Amino acid sequence: MILGIESSCDETAAAVYDPAAHRMRSNVIRSQSVHERFGGVVPEMASRAHEAHISGVVAQALEEAGIRADDLAGIAVANGPGLMGALLVGLSFAKGLHLRTGAPLVGVNHIDAHIYANFIEAAPAYPFVALTVSGGHTRLTLVRGFMDHVVLGQTRDDAAGEAFDKTGKLLGLPYPAGPHVDSQSVKGDSRFVNFPRSLMGEGYDFSFSGLKTAVLYHLEAVPAAGRAAYIERHRADLCASISEAITEVLVTKTMRAVRDTGVKSVVLAGGVSANSMLRRKMADQRGIILHIPRPVYCTDNGAMIAITGAMKLEAGMRDGLELQAFAS
Ligand code: KG4
Ligand code: ZN
Repeated sequence: MILGIESSCDETAAAVYDPAAHRMRSNVIRSQSVHERFGGVVPEMASRAHEAHISGVVAQALEEAGIRADDLAGIAVANGPGLMGALLVGLSFAKGLHLRTGAPLVGVNHIDAHIYANFIEAAPAYPFVALTVSGGHTRLTLVRGFMDHVVLGQTRDDAAGEAFDKTGKLLGLPYPAGPHVDSQSVKGDSRFVNFPRSLMGEGYDFSFSGLKTAVLYHLEAVPAAGRAAYIERHRADLCASISEAITEVLVTKTMRAVRDTGVKSVVLAGGVSANSMLRRKMADQRGIILHIPRPVYCTDNGAMIAITGAMKLEAGMRDGLELQAFAS
C-alpha cells in the first residue's frame, strides 16, 4: 500500500494505492474555501489550512483504505513545484510518517503526477504526447518512457487555468472561475465574440495574457452604466467564446505535436483537462488514441501522487530525509 500526500496549492489531499490489485483504495481531498473571498490563493492562509487539516486527511485516507500507517510499503509526497509554505506541510508530515513507520519515502513532481494520473484507470502505451493544463502550468510534453520527458513547449505568460480564472473573474464568477466558465459555456454561443488565439500559427508555445486583455477591453467598450447588465445578459455567450478561444489553441497545438512527432497516443492532464469543451474537442480528433483521467483525478489530488510514487518505488527510486521542497 502506497500513501500519496498532496499539499502544493490549496487542496490538502491524501490517497492510498494498492499496486497488487491496481486499485485506488481511498482518495480524500479537502479544499480550502478561505481563499474565495480574496479571489485567489493567499499563500500564508494555504499553509495554515494545510497544517490544520493534514493529519485528519491522512488519517481518513488510511481508514477508508482499511489499513494502519504500519501497513504502508511506501510514502509518496508532492515536493514541488508549488507554494513553498504549503509544500513544506505535506513534506514534513511525510517525513514524520517515514521516520515513524520506516516505509520508504519518495518525492513526486506535481506536474509529472498530473500526467501519470492517467495510469490510475488505464495504462497508456509509451511514447505519448501529454498536454498538461492547470492553474499554474501549460505544457506540451513528449513522454518517451517513465520519467523520460521532452518538453515541446509551454506557456510564455499565463497558464490555461489562469486564463479561465482571470477572464471568469472579469465576468463576476467566483474563484476558481474555471469550472463556472465551463458550466456557463454549455448554455452560450461560442461565436458571440471572436477572442484572439495567440501564437496559433507557430510552434508549441502558448500565450494567454492577450486573451485576458481582450476580454477586459471588450467589457470596457460597453458604456459603464450598462456594463453589469450586459455581462448578466451575455455571461454564457462570453464564457463560451472564451472557452472556444482557449480550447482551440490547446487542441491545435496538441494535434501539431501529434503530426510532427508521429506519436498517436495523447494524454490530457491537470485541472483544465476536466473542461468539457476541451474533452469533447479532443475526443472528436481522428487518428489518435486519447486518455483523459476522470475529472476527480484531473484537479489536484493525492491519488496522482500515490500512483506516481508507486511507479517510482517500483523503478527503485527513493529519497531520504534530505528531500527538499522546490517552488518552481
Ligand atoms: O491541476 P489543478 O487542480 O491545480 C494546479 O495544479 O494548478 O488546476 C486548477 C485549475 C484552475 O485554474 C481551475 O479553474 C481549472 O484548473 N479548472 C477548470 C475546470 N476545472 C478546473 N478550468 C476549466 N474548466 C474546468 N472544468
Ligand atoms: Zn495541479
